[in-house]
Amino acid sequence: MLQKNKLIDKFNRHLNYLRISITDRCNLRCLYCVPPDKIPKLKHEDILRYEEIIRIVRVGVDLGIKKVRITGGEPLVRKGAKDFLKSLSEIKGLEDISLTTNGVLLKDSIESILSAGIRRINVSLDSLDPQTYKKITGFDMFNRVWAGIMCAHENGLSPIKLNVVPLRGRNDNELFDFANLSFKYPFHIRFIEYMPIGHSDINAQKAIYAPELQERFSKIGNLISVEKGLQDGPAKRFRFEGAKGEIGFITAMTHNFCRNCNRMRLTADGQLRACLLSDIQTDLKTPIRNGCSDEVIAEVLLKAALSKGEAHKLSESTTPAVSSQMSAIGG
Ligand code: 5AD
Ligand code: SF4
Repeated sequence: MLQKNKLIDKFNRHLNYLRISITDRCNLRCLYCVPPDKIPKLKHEDILRYEEIIRIVRVGVDLGIKKVRITGGEPLVRKGAKDFLKSLSEIKGLEDISLTTNGVLLKDSIESILSAGIRRINVSLDSLDPQTYKKITGFDMFNRVWAGIMCAHENGLSPIKLNVVPLRGRNDNELFDFANLSFKYPFHIRFIEYMPIGHSDINAQKAIYAPELQERFSKIGNLISVEKGLQDGPAKRFRFEGAKGEIGFITAMTHNFCRNCNRMRLTADGQLRACLLSDIQTDLKTPIRNGCSDEVIAEVLLKAALSKGEAHKLSESTTPAVSSQMSAIGG
């Protein structure tokens, strides 16, 4: 029965990629992510249990989900994350599991990551300078994160994508260093345009968008465009001639890539969000906690898919486009 229905939205986009935030907690406090006042925290009982997430993924796979990415907050801070990754890897029909982490616990978690069959990770790394890293993230963790990245690299994880949110006057003096890193290692360094999600100390004036970055990079060397694969996300990919790694731009603000979006999100508290940049969400936690059947879970997933708008409507206004914090939705 379930197999007949697939997660296809009103605009004929096939949603086969589910990003799952397993916690809103984090062991860093990145300037662009954390609100200036008190950090809202979900209550323990409001966070989906691992068994509930596994059940949702199983039903999702029947409806066409092929890829999942585990995010947070910082996913590796949640107790039991390692066993959860293992259970996820045992779901038949799920072709790809990946992880987005800030890297602080990466080295300690490498064995579980490998044994869950995860080969692709994204690590947030906003600076290559320990002092600046501390200023952006609030913690003196650069060396630890770097050791985690090296450990992942030595263990054959590939590609390792390094996420950088470029901020004027904070880390934009490091473009040359990031370019150099792409010569030395096969990493994909991806500059994510700051998006107005939730509240933070950063606003649009601090953001640096891809056209400016590309222009500044072109003064360092010749950026050659890299052709996209079918499974690729929204990054525009480039490589400096002779470099092992890549430079990419995620242009949520300056170039709308919604037409090819295949994503859906499950928040830490069990809400389905068909679009990161919209507050529309469909409650899956309540029916699950009320003991619903797999058929009902499927219906809620299908309903959420149909709620996906054609494209986001971000303007460069200073009020947040999305009121929830990124740490609860998952990046
Ligand atoms: N705008 C752009 N990127 C953000 N991230 C977190 N908050 C924002 C924001 N407001 C990034 C993190 C992480 C990735 C998943 O999203 O740096 O690497
Ligand atoms: Fe934590 Fe990621 Fe937010 Fe930084 S951006 S505080 S690492 S959730």
